[in-house]
Amino acid sequence: MNETTIDLNPASIFERGWQLLDEALKNRKSGFRTFTLATIGAEGAEARTVVLREVDPKSRFIRFNSDVRSAKVIELKSQPNATALFYDAAQKFQVRARVQAVIHHGDEVAREAWEATALLARRCYLAPFVPSTVLDDFHPNMPEHLVGREPVEEESVEGFDNFCAVRLHITSLESFSLDYEGHRRVLSIPASDSSWEHRFLAP
Ligand SMILES: Cc1cc2nc3c(=O)[nH]c(=O)nc-3n(C[C@H](O)[C@H](O)[C@H](O)COP(=O)(O)O)c2cc1C
Repeated sequence: MNETTIDLNPASIFERGWQLLDEALKNRKSGFRTFTLATIGAEGAEARTVVLREVDPKSRFIRFNSDVRSAKVIELKSQPNATALFYDAAQKFQVRARVQAVIHHGDEVAREAWEATALLARRCYLAPFVPSTVLDDFHPNMPEHLVGREPVEEESVEGFDNFCAVRLHITSLESFSLDYEGHRRVLSIPASDSSWEHRFLAP
């Protein structure tokens, strides 16, 4: 093969993906700040955007938060195998992770995630209507007295009943870097407690 200037170490392409995930926690504008979560529903594939809330490379999970009554959570309860898809257009980098979801509702993990949730975001969990309820007229699905303002701590407390933290444990991860000199696509599979095995895939 001709001389190339791009990094051809599959492990460093994989590391780049984790680095982008980690950076997204601090940077709201990062392409990896939100991702597409694909699940299996009764009628086939379902997909939607969620916000990345935690990244744990050591224990190999990522987390998002949701309403425990939502369709996605009900789907994950019946079929925990799902896919998380990230794309950062500026970095021309995609991560596709196959995951197994563990739903934390009312436990210590949920409590910790709730404590880290901003008061404004907690309003979503005070929703009087179950998510996806068909409405006769527009309704913001939050208590009327909270429209246009942040709840105080005490007003937010009830939301914890509807709140869940969803840990997505990664079972395999595919990194894809778009490059003029050749796209690099790497499949990474957990090898032991702390290491991964990497293979280039035909892009
Ligand atoms: C930018 C963006 C971020 C979102 N983040 C979340 C999230 O973190 N958690 C969540 O449950 N829904 C989130 N949503 C809403 C979901 O995409 C989805 O529309 C809603 O939760 C209903 O999905 P479901 O019926 O599949 O459960 C977000 C939507 C947008 C546009």
